[in-house]
Amino acid sequence: MVSHITYFFSMLLLVFMVCHPSQAMITSTNQSQFFVQIIKSLSPNSGSSLSDWDVKGGKPYCNFSGVMCNNEGYVVQINISGRSLSGHFPADICSYLPELRILRLGSNNLRGDFVDSITNCSFLEELSMEHLFLSGTLPDFSPLKNLKILDLSYNCSKASSPCQCLILPILRCSISMRM
Ligand SMILES: *[C@@H]1O[C@H](CO)[C@@H](O)[C@H](O)[C@H]1NC(C)=O
Ligand SMILES: *[C@@H]1O[C@H](CO)[C@@H](O)[C@H](O)[C@H]1NC(C)=O
Ligand SMILES: *[C@@H]1O[C@H](CO)[C@@H](O)[C@H](O)[C@H]1NC(C)=O
Ligand SMILES: *[C@@H]1O[C@H](CO)[C@@H](O)[C@H](O)[C@H]1NC(C)=O
Ligand SMILES: *[C@@H]1O[C@H](CO)[C@@H](O)[C@H](O)[C@H]1NC(C)=O
Repeated sequence: MVSHITYFFSMLLLVFMVCHPSQAMITSTNQSQFFVQIIKSLSPNSGSSLSDWDVKGGKPYCNFSGVMCNNEGYVVQINISGRSLSGHFPADICSYLPELRILRLGSNNLRGDFVDSITNCSFLEELSMEHLFLSGTLPDFSPLKNLKILDLSYNCSKASSPCQCLILPILRCSISMRM
C-alpha cells in the first residue's frame, strides 16, 4: 500500500517535472544576470548607493532595496530613483526581467540610449525617467499597451541653463503624462 502511494506520488512528481522543464531556474538565472549587468554598467562611484545589491550571491535579488518580486519570484518593480547613480542603464532589460511592470529611474545621472529596448517590456505600466540625461530619439511607445504612467519630464542637459525640457511637445515639463 505504502509503496503504491509512493509510486503514485513519484509519477506525479515526474509528470510535473516533465511539464515544467525547470522554467523557474531559467528565469532566475536570467533575472540575476540583469543585476550583474546593471552593476557593471554603472560608474564605479555609483556603487555605494546600491550597496545592498549583492550580485555576487548571498542575498536574493528580490530582497535588494528598490526591487519587488511577485509570488512566483519574477521581478515586477524596480525603483532606483534619486540614488545619485551615474553611468549607463543596460539595454534590453525585459529579456532579463520579462514580468517587469514598474520602472522608476528618475533623478539620477544616467546616460545612454537604452530607451528603445524598453518598448519590449510588454507588461510595463509605469515608466518614470524624469531628470535623466537621455540621448537618442524617443521610441514609439504604442507597443506598451499597459502603460499608464510615462514620465519623461526634465530630461535636461547640464549645459542648458536653465534646464530646458527636451521632450515631445505633448508632454508637459515637470508633470507626468497619464494615459
Ligand atoms: C529576504 O526577505 C524575506 C522576506 O522579507 C525574508 O524572509 C528572508 O529572510 C530574506 N532573505 C535574505 C537572505 O535576506
Ligand atoms: C523610490 O525610491 C526612493 C529612494 O529610495 C524613495 O524615496 C521613493 O519613495 C520610492 N518611490 C516609490 C513610489 O516607491
Ligand atoms: C533567457 O533565457 C532564455 C532561455 O534559456 C534564453 O533564450 C535567453 O537568451 C536568455 N536571455 C538572456 C538575456 O540571457
Ligand atoms: C525586442 O526583442 C526582440 C526579440 O528578443 C529583439 O529582436 C528586438 O531587437 C528587441 N527590440 C528592441 C527595440 O530592443
Ligand atoms: C534628452 O535631452 C538631450 C539633450 O540633453 C537630447 O539630445 C535628447 O534627444 C533628449 N532625449 C529624449 C529621449 O528626449
